[in-house]
Amino acid sequence: MIVLSKRLNIIFDRIEKCGVFADVGCDHGYIAYKMLEEGKCDRAIITDISAKCLKKADNLLKTRFAGKYEAIVADGLKGAPYADEVLIAGMGGEVIRDILYGVDHLPERLVLQPMKNPEKVRRAVVEKGYFVERDYTFKAGKFYDLIVAVKGRDEYSEEEYSFGRDNIREKGDAFIEQISNKIEKLKRARKTAAEENREDIEKRLCVLEEILK
Ligand SMILES: C[S@@+](CC[C@H](N)C(=O)[O-])C[C@H]1O[C@@H](n2cnc3c(N)ncnc32)[C@H](O)[C@@H]1O
Repeated sequence: MIVLSKRLNIIFDRIEKCGVFADVGCDHGYIAYKMLEEGKCDRAIITDISAKCLKKADNLLKTRFAGKYEAIVADGLKGAPYADEVLIAGMGGEVIRDILYGVDHLPERLVLQPMKNPEKVRRAVVEKGYFVERDYTFKAGKFYDLIVAVKGRDEYSEEEYSFGRDNIREKGDAFIEQISNKIEKLKRARKTAAEENREDIEKRLCVLEEILK
């Protein structure tokens, strides 16, 4: 039995039962293993741009799940054209955005966990014709953004693109803590900032303080 880290567990819970599940950039392969172990998918596709990383996942899955999965070295979604549900986690937001723009055929449902630049992922998801089901920050040691989307139409405000829609609506504990940390950091920076940088710091502080109101 695989015991997932807190981050992976939170991600795993957001993936729905499906026919074909794909983990793009799977590296260790833990999520695909758990999906098959719990019968949350009929088949899995594990892909990675690095053959070395994919080998780790393949080694993990092959004894127990031979015949239930495919391991494909590929850039982004090119290796998983027929997946119903796709996870792309642990990469930068720009990489995830480029993966979404890199193919014509996109899956019905996406679970995305960018390590930075989540706003770029939100824009790509909405522009590529998805409705965003969940878009929030969670804490698992560090802060992470999680974006879950299904095919459909959606509209985001600039504030929602910047901060995440459910963060704005719900103001969850992790989001409040993350923004409060940023505010404290900016206040410390303000004390020693050169005159020409102060205006920028004030503006950023103002935006963050407004968000928490
Ligand atoms: C930090 S690991 C994250 C592994 C796992 N998804 C997780 O969240 O724990 C990032 C993985 O993405 C892979 N990767 C980076 N760019 C990729 C791309 N364009 N297509 C497929 N895999 C990619 C890397 O080779 C690496 O194995």
